[in-house]
Amino acid sequence: MTSPDLILTLQLALQLILTCILSSTIAQNPVDNYAPTVNTNCPEASAGLVRTFTPQTQALNTSEAEYILSRESNVISNAWFNWLGNASDIGYNFQNLQDKFPRIGIAIGGEGYRTAQYGAGVLSGLDWRNTTARDQGTGGLLQVASYLAASSGGSWLLGSLLMNDWPPLQELVYGNGAELSSWMLDLDLIVPSFDGSDNQAYWGSILASVESKSNSGVPISVTDIWGRMVSYHFLNETTRDNFYTNDTSHGAGQLWSQISLLSNFRNNTMPLPIVAADSRQAGSGLTTALNSTITPFEFGSWDPGLSAMLPLQFAGTYLTNGLPANASACVTGFDQASFVMGTSSSFFNAVLNVTDGTSFGFNTDNGEEDGMNFLFSQLSLHAQSDTKDAANWPNPFKGVNPATFEDSSSDWLELLDGGSNLEKTPLSSLLVKARGLDVVVVIDGSADDPNYWPNGTSLLTTFERISSVLSSSHQPMPPIPGNAASFVSTGVNMRPTFFGCNATQGQPEYPIIIYLPNAPPLDGSAPATNTGNTQFSYTSMFTAVFINQAFMNTLGGFKPNTTSPDPNWGQCLKCAAIDRTVHARSDFCAQCFEQYCYDPAHPPSSAELPDRQFSFVNPDPSGLDKVEQWLESNKATLAGCIVAIVLIIAGIVGFM
Ligand SMILES: *[C@@H]1O[C@H](CO)[C@@H](O)[C@H](O)[C@H]1NC(C)=O
Ligand SMILES: *[C@@H]1O[C@H](CO)[C@@H](O)[C@H](O)[C@H]1NC(C)=O
Ligand SMILES: *[C@@H]1O[C@H](CO)[C@@H](O)[C@H](O)[C@H]1NC(C)=O
Ligand SMILES: *[C@@H]1O[C@H](CO)[C@@H](O)[C@H](O)[C@H]1NC(C)=O
Ligand SMILES: *[C@@H]1O[C@H](CO)[C@@H](O)[C@H](O)[C@H]1NC(C)=O
Ligand SMILES: *[C@@H]1O[C@H](CO)[C@@H](O)[C@H](O)[C@H]1NC(C)=O
Ligand SMILES: *[C@@H]1O[C@H](CO)[C@@H](O)[C@H](O)[C@H]1NC(C)=O
Ligand SMILES: *[C@@H]1O[C@H](CO)[C@@H](O)[C@H](O)[C@H]1NC(C)=O
Ligand SMILES: *[C@@H]1O[C@H](CO)[C@@H](O)[C@H](O)[C@H]1NC(C)=O
Ligand SMILES: *[C@@H]1O[C@H](CO)[C@@H](O)[C@H](O)[C@H]1NC(C)=O
Ligand SMILES: *[C@@H]1O[C@H](CO)[C@@H](O)[C@H](O)[C@H]1NC(C)=O
Ligand SMILES: *[C@@H]1O[C@H](CO)[C@@H](O)[C@H](O)[C@H]1NC(C)=O
Repeated sequence: MTSPDLILTLQLALQLILTCILSSTIAQNPVDNYAPTVNTNCPEASAGLVRTFTPQTQALNTSEAEYILSRESNVISNAWFNWLGNASDIGYNFQNLQDKFPRIGIAIGGEGYRTAQYGAGVLSGLDWRNTTARDQGTGGLLQVASYLAASSGGSWLLGSLLMNDWPPLQELVYGNGAELSSWMLDLDLIVPSFDGSDNQAYWGSILASVESKSNSGVPISVTDIWGRMVSYHFLNETTRDNFYTNDTSHGAGQLWSQISLLSNFRNNTMPLPIVAADSRQAGSGLTTALNSTITPFEFGSWDPGLSAMLPLQFAGTYLTNGLPANASACVTGFDQASFVMGTSSSFFNAVLNVTDGTSFGFNTDNGEEDGMNFLFSQLSLHAQSDTKDAANWPNPFKGVNPATFEDSSSDWLELLDGGSNLEKTPLSSLLVKARGLDVVVVIDGSADDPNYWPNGTSLLTTFERISSVLSSSHQPMPPIPGNAASFVSTGVNMRPTFFGCNATQGQPEYPIIIYLPNAPPLDGSAPATNTGNTQFSYTSMFTAVFINQAFMNTLGGFKPNTTSPDPNWGQCLKCAAIDRTVHARSDFCAQCFEQYCYDPAHPPSSAELPDRQFSFVNPDPSGLDKVEQWLESNKATLAGCIVAIVLIIAGIVGFM
């Protein structure tokens, strides 16, 4: 650069900086609602804000326990009656079942948009409000569930359902012409603007949000940017009309701890939500395990190594031995729904090189990678801590369990995507002993095999962790195939399967697991649900085909040696859901169990699933082509813009 150019650049940079300073001090930008409130008064708790326990003294938070009990008595018992009727079609008499209904939890696994959509299709199929699912007999299981746990992309679906106050899924995904404006998955998560012109405005809003947090003195990371982007699609304040404006907060300011204020929570209509995240020892860069859980009430870990919980509304506060630095050192507003969804899906440890600020694994053709790199370079200008590729949570557990808690002397926690240790479905959150579950439904959309179908790795990893580190704090897992190859050869990764059907009567040893893996259409048609983890845009037609396939499989069950749905599947699902309550299994249910239970002594075979098609076929090739063609012809301009921005930043950095 010649020196007049340099001076010009510096002048421009100075102007920019002044504008930034002015706009941040004068205008109240709605996206700044992302900033937590610091230095607020702490509750007067002489014993400290953190509750600790051991695997033996483990207990639920009182608010959680109360929620579960009132939901069970006020809502779930009616829901069972709606779903089962007099139960004569499955060979029981409802009157004899109602002493104590089984307690059910649903776990939605994650990996990006694929699993949010897979989860939505499956939940529609289990939802009593969906009359097609209701007629098939599968619709109703969602209403009798006490818990709904999710991780990563699954947490986007969960957050969307919760923060929108529990609408029917098709309204949530496609919009309802009123307050729900659809997920807008056709707008790319990272580069939403087709012609590129509005991306900078979008990124500017995202960065403004994140800066507002940083300005309050709370450490940020790329996870904040990520969570803010996710919010444009899954929270309720963004429409096509206001997407590229600062007219609304775009979900900033919506807090996870405030879920308890929503009307469908207050009247116990929602299952209790749990979000899972992994952790990495601060500064280590290595260990990951599924062990942090977030409910609307608490944040912490049930792992024997920590066994401690913090009231979620005070997340963001530094505590030592449960105590703040002083009576007004508390932080609130840190538990942004954006940040909770971002934390659970924070996979940047796998896709970001923090040394040189480049990402990999994102699409390079449509500008996603350049977009991420740009955002990361911006972040680096403002980041307040060493860790940029994990979710930074100020450590409330400093000083707790120093012998076993690896972060007991760290000031912050580094949280990661709930599936980073390969437990893609947050099953262990539901197996916590105090939660006392009888049935766990596992919605597994993991992309394990070369065609992006699950191969049981998630369940196998949970099995391994539960039988080793978590044996004192969690319920055991029922028998499952011993390795991924057996999941594949038995075919249980490709159709609904029940695990743990034969537990001892009375207090069950382990819950029944109802496994609902993402699988090709029963009828042998081309699959559209096995897309990649980093596909961050879907045309509306693609989404419709995708969700419909997941929905139809959920309604279809499987009939051995055929490509037809099983007309009894809805009833069989009822048999599995109610089984822990019955004294003697009916003939009808025994027959179901023969078909759907995994019996290690007589394993089934993948040969019973004939004529399935495994390779992904794009259901809307012309839709994507159009975008791709456009991008092809505008690539130069797009790249030019990004280069220009990077140059300006380089100028600013040089200047400073
Ligand atoms: C149970 O309900 C079905 C249909 O709702 C009815 O046809 C049947 O007679 C009932 N059976 C008993 C034992 O009440
Ligand atoms: C049931 O759910 C599917 C999938 O979300 C949706 O396409 C369909 O419109 C719903 N049907 C009813 C009757 O609500
Ligand atoms: C969005 O949802 C929040 C609660 O999650 C609610 O308070 C707010 O009124 C909703 N806003 C709109 C525009 O629907
Ligand atoms: C939103 O505000 C920020 C900060 O003032 C700005 O950088 C950004 O460009 C604005 N976004 C839009 C879409 O106007
Ligand atoms: C719970 O509240 C919602 C919203 O007000 C309402 O639509 C729903 O019918 C209520 N459910 C029950 C069981 O009262
Ligand atoms: C998470 O699990 C790992 C391994 O099981 C353990 O080392 C670590 O201390 C746990 N972290 C927390 C926060 O409990
Ligand atoms: C339970 O959660 C609430 C809400 O976060 C909190 O106020 C309370 O201290 C927690 N502890 C117990 C023991 O219930
Ligand atoms: C309390 O602690 C906070 C955080 O360490 C600090 O910013 C603040 O100045 C302290 N306030 C008082 C009154 O000491
Ligand atoms: C990260 O970037 C640095 C500097 O360019 C390079 O030396 C290193 O190999 C990169 N690491 C990875 C994992 O790509
Ligand atoms: C199963 O999936 C994992 C990835 O989750 C992969 O590493 C492994 O090779 C797969 N195994 C089989 C037998 O498909
Ligand atoms: C499916 O076909 C195989 C091979 O013909 C046979 O061994 C098996 O018994 C059949 N399964 C059922 C449930 O009919
Ligand atoms: C359950 O027990 C029955 C009767 O003892 C036996 O026939 C069946 O094979 C067992 N099923 C499983 C899944 O273990």
